[in-house]
Amino acid sequence: MQATVAYFTRTGRSERVAQVLGRELEGRGAHVDLVRLEPIRGRTAVGGAILAALRVPAGLEQTPDLSGNDLLALVGPVWAASMTPAMRSMIEALPHLDGRPVISVVCGFHTCNGVAARMTKELQARDAGRVVSRAIGRSAVQDPLAVSDLARELCAAALGAQRQ
Ligand SMILES: Cc1cc2nc3c(=O)[nH]c(=O)nc-3n(C[C@H](O)[C@H](O)[C@H](O)COP(=O)(O)O)c2cc1C
Repeated sequence: MQATVAYFTRTGRSERVAQVLGRELEGRGAHVDLVRLEPIRGRTAVGGAILAALRVPAGLEQTPDLSGNDLLALVGPVWAASMTPAMRSMIEALPHLDGRPVISVVCGFHTCNGVAARMTKELQARDAGRVVSRAIGRSAVQDPLAVSDLARELCAAALGAQRQ
């Protein structure tokens, strides 16, 4: 099974979550591509926050190649009560997902369930299969045990969905 874990991070927290998710998928037999999204615009916190608030995509230096991909995981922070401009570009560039499962984790200062729900909608509009989506706040993001538990739970749900 081929899995892609695409993440955006500014201060490293989402990267750690993406790495744990990647290791969990590998432990379950997946070949994992861990891909860091590099935005073209909105690289500073202020510039990025303005784009995020306006729901404007940043453009990406490179869009991950999802050919042959069986499972997609997206991880990134919440900016201005929204997904980041980099993640917006990633979602806009997604091909038709043909029912494949998607894991989505949004890492905020608060637990931003509304942002996770909006990402789920965007993914379903691209014909994702089961979308296993979670918002986590700072206390969970900073707790390695909580992140490991979350990765186990999300991967089990997503891979269970794939076998059905
Ligand atoms: C420009 C900017 C805007 C943010 N807006 C929000 C927000 O609206 N809600 C929230 O809960 N956290 C917000 N945060 C906090 C980040 O989502 C949080 O610190 C996240 O864990 C950082 O992830 P990273 O280390 O992967 O960059 C914001 C952070 C930045 C830099």
